Amino acid sequence: MSGKQSKRDSFSSKFGVIAAAAGSAVGLGNIWKFPYITGVYGGGAFLFVYLGFILAIGLPIMLSELIIGRKSKRNAFGAFKKLAPKSVWKYIGILGVAAAFMILSFYGVIAGWSIEYIFMAVVDGFKDTSPGEISTTFTAFIESPVKPVAFQLLFMLLTGAIVIVGIRKGIEKYTKILMPLLVVIIIILDIKAISLKGSEAGLKFLFHPDFSKLTGEGILSALGHAFFSLSLGMGTLITYGSYIRNDNNLLNTAIQVTVADTIIAVLAGIAIFPAVFAFGIEPNSGPGLVFITLPNVFQQMPGGHIFSVLFFVLLTVAALTSAISILEVVVAYFTEELNMKRKWATVFATIFISFLGIICSLSMGVFKNHSFYNLNFFDLLDWVSANILLPLGGLLISLFMGWYFGRKKIRKELEKGGHIGSALLSIFMFLVRFIAPVAIAMVLLHGTGLLDLKWFMPAK
Ligand code: PHE
Repeated sequence: MSGKQSKRDSFSSKFGVIAAAAGSAVGLGNIWKFPYITGVYGGGAFLFVYLGFILAIGLPIMLSELIIGRKSKRNAFGAFKKLAPKSVWKYIGILGVAAAFMILSFYGVIAGWSIEYIFMAVVDGFKDTSPGEISTTFTAFIESPVKPVAFQLLFMLLTGAIVIVGIRKGIEKYTKILMPLLVVIIIILDIKAISLKGSEAGLKFLFHPDFSKLTGEGILSALGHAFFSLSLGMGTLITYGSYIRNDNNLLNTAIQVTVADTIIAVLAGIAIFPAVFAFGIEPNSGPGLVFITLPNVFQQMPGGHIFSVLFFVLLTVAALTSAISILEVVVAYFTEELNMKRKWATVFATIFISFLGIICSLSMGVFKNHSFYNLNFFDLLDWVSANILLPLGGLLISLFMGWYFGRKKIRKELEKGGHIGSALLSIFMFLVRFIAPVAIAMVLLHGTGLLDLKWFMPAK
């Protein structure tokens, strides 16, 4: 496989690296999923636990993935094969490729909704509608068998087209301008949302932790979402890390991406929850939360028409830069391990994922009554991939980093493009060797009901 080395694409600048990695991290996870699950799991306490996971587990695992990727210059599977020859570690990569298939299947559906909402915004379709009507229109749309499927396919087509062209030319160019613009729009929405009458209740919901509302499943979802939002646990950042040049300071990159991703999620929360309370929408309304809440805000804003169009365009772009990074995991694996041509690998993966996506989309309507453990196909893929596969991948990656790869090689890789002090390195080692694996294992066991943490508490 080493013959392929010289042909590998790489990011051309430091900014390109940040743009691509942040482009992967920032997406529907921040703007659609974070507010919706924060609503379902009770608000402030969920946010608090989520932030703890980001810091103690997400950041170290992001750095680990970047190290593994850049050191090996391989895809998610090949990386472990190269760094740990003749061992079972490489199966982490298979787990990642499987997660990529599952995630992109449902991700494309939500991104399709976002495209539909661009059209709705363009014709000013939210004007003079009541919160109730907005919600009914949304439900009718996602349950219909044609439109959402068509938009999902359109989104997958765009994703595949960009990946075929290659990662650098495809991504770097667009994210540079569009991501900052998205942040500006969200901040304007924040200001509007906070100024609505009755908005304080929303801020309180988001920032005032009520730990009595926290359940084992809530904690598991906070962990799963930390992985999902930062694009961790399935080799996305191993794959992107493999395109990063040696003079890049990986620690800084990891910190910047983590901070940007977290800030954008919290800003999205500030745009949503005050409006949720101001318009009397249920915070736990589920996957439709953003699509129902924001149109209400737009129609109350001066210039709301323009803002709504811009917002859904940018949301679609943010979804696109994430979807590309998910598809790239599969394509890099197919091309480097199965010797497929980039073009065919992309076509094959895109078609297969689109097909799963159609089933996801239909599971909201036509197949609504087919459920597994009370989850429809869409929720099932979301739940299993985000809450089980990604944390499991993260657990194995942290064990690999801490116990197999080891301190010396980590230091060497990090010092190629920067400097890492001994104390900081020790903290990192402690986190990847002990904190991350133990915490993930406990949350997984507890959240899935295999272990009850109350067994370890003093009896009341
Ligand atoms: N992080 C992306 C988002 O927040 C989704 C994603 C998950 C991307 C896993 C890559 C890998 O929308």
